Amino acid sequence: MSEESRNVGMSGGGGLLRTTRRRVLLGGGAALVGLTLRGDVLAGFLARGQEAGLAGVTTIAGAKKPVFVAAAGSMDPVAHSLAESLFWLDQEFEHAKFFLMHMPSPDLDAERAQVLRFQNEFADRLVKVRAGGADRSGLAGFNRPTIELVRRFLDVKRKMEKAQESGQLKSLAWPTFFEHVALEGERFANRLEKFSQGRVELERGEVVDFWSRIMADHAEFVAHLLDPEEKALIEKARGAGAAWRTVKSGGGSKGKVEDSLEELLAFKKTAQKGVEAGQIKSIIHPLLADHVIREALKFSDELKRAA
Ligand SMILES: [Fe+2]
Ligand SMILES: [Fe+2]
Repeated sequence: MSEESRNVGMSGGGGLLRTTRRRVLLGGGAALVGLTLRGDVLAGFLARGQEAGLAGVTTIAGAKKPVFVAAAGSMDPVAHSLAESLFWLDQEFEHAKFFLMHMPSPDLDAERAQVLRFQNEFADRLVKVRAGGADRSGLAGFNRPTIELVRRFLDVKRKMEKAQESGQLKSLAWPTFFEHVALEGERFANRLEKFSQGRVELERGEVVDFWSRIMADHAEFVAHLLDPEEKALIEKARGAGAAWRTVKSGGGSKGKVEDSLEELLAFKKTAQKGVEAGQIKSIIHPLLADHVIREALKFSDELKRAA
C-alpha cells in the first residue's frame, strides 16, 4: 500500500485530510495543540514550581514542561541562577534517564547503578533549588553544590564517551551523544560560575557557537533515530544538521540564525506530534522529542538577551 493511500485510509478518505504526515513535516511546522504535562515524574513537581513562582523567574511556553528563564531583561544573578538551575538540572535528570534507556540490563547493571545515583542526586538538588533561599551574598555557596554535581557527572559522561568510542562500553548510546550532553553540562556549570561572580551577560558569538553545535547534533540525532524507511525525513534532518554546522557567530545577517532556529523548532515540534501520534516511524522517545524542543526554546531566549 502506498503512503498516500495508507494515510487516506487512516483519515477516512476525506480530501482535506489527504495531506500526509511527511508532507506536513517536510513543508515546515504545524502548531502543537492540546499539550499537557505528563510522563516524567518531575513534570508535576516542576508544574507546581511554576505555580508557586520564584522571585525573578518566569517560564516560556512551547514544550510539555515549562522552560525556566530569568524575567525578561533581568540582570539579577540570583534569578539567573535559579532559572538556569531549574532548567538544566531537569535536563540533566533526563540525560541520566536517556543513558539508562540506552544501557541494557543485566550486562550494564554496574553503569546503570552509577547513572541512577546521579539521577537521584539531580532530583534531590532540584528540590533544594526549588526551595529557594538564595541571596546575592550567599549565591556562590548556593550554586557550588550544583556546579560540583554537574562536573562529577561531566567526568562520567566523558569517560563513557571514550569507553563507547573504544568499544569497552557496549551501550546503545553513541559516543557523540555522551559528548553532546557533556558540552551541555559544561556550559551549565560555567554559566553558574559566572552568576556566582555577579556576571549574567551573554555574548552573542558564544551563544550562537554553543547552540549551533547543539542544534546540529539534535538534527543529526533525529536523522539517526528515524526508521530507515523515513527517507525524506531523514534527508530533511540531515540537511538541517549540515546547515547548523556551517552557522558561525560572525557570519550571516543577524536575523538568519533566528529564522533558522524558528524553522528547526517547527520541525522538532511537528516531529514530536508525528511521533506521539504514531504517524512517523522512529525510535525517538517522546521525552527526547520534548527535551530537544526545550533546548531550542532556551537557545531562542538566550538570543534575545545576547548583546
Ligand atoms: Fe540535553
Ligand atoms: Fe541537547
